[in-house]
Amino acid sequence: MQERTLILIKPDGVQRHKIGFIISRFEDKGLKLVAAKLMQIPEALARKHYAAHEGKPFFEGVVKYLASSPCLVMVWQAEGVIQMARKLMGATFGFDAEPGSIRGDFGCSRGYNLIHGSDSPESAEYEIGLYFKPEEIVDYSLADEGWLYGRND
Ligand code: RTP
Ligand code: MG
Repeated sequence: MQERTLILIKPDGVQRHKIGFIISRFEDKGLKLVAAKLMQIPEALARKHYAAHEGKPFFEGVVKYLASSPCLVMVWQAEGVIQMARKLMGATFGFDAEPGSIRGDFGCSRGYNLIHGSDSPESAEYEIGLYFKPEEIVDYSLADEGWLYGRND
């Protein structure tokens, strides 16, 4: 069954001109873009986005970071997309993310990390609902889905 995930190119990704590179990784993998918008995230929305981290020492800093400059907010869809996207992103910070991953290839910061991806079906549903109305998510088929998702069973 196809699932959806919220992917956000963070302020450093936009400011460092990495939008095209990051989207290419998702397209090359065969994932399907179903919603996108560039927006300046208000601080109140950033707090909701990272609500699960409220009270942790880095919470205020990460809220400030997310709201510091525009982000590209997207929904991607595919079977298993949540975990695939997490692997494409790599470990939380570039300094120890695997080369070949987005965070591993495009940064070495211990604070900024270019991209956000939902970490579970529950957080994906919550996060998508923060940014998109259901009618803003476009349901369509890719012409080459038979080739992209071919199976032998
Ligand atoms: P994200 O939620 O942004 O996709 O990142 P993640 O799952 O890899 O990491 P998570 O543990 O959910 O942390 C959320 C964001 O908070 C910032 N952070 N700072 N200074 C710190 O120790 C620290 N730890 C986390 C990062 O921006 C991280 O992406
Ligand atoms: Mg997270």
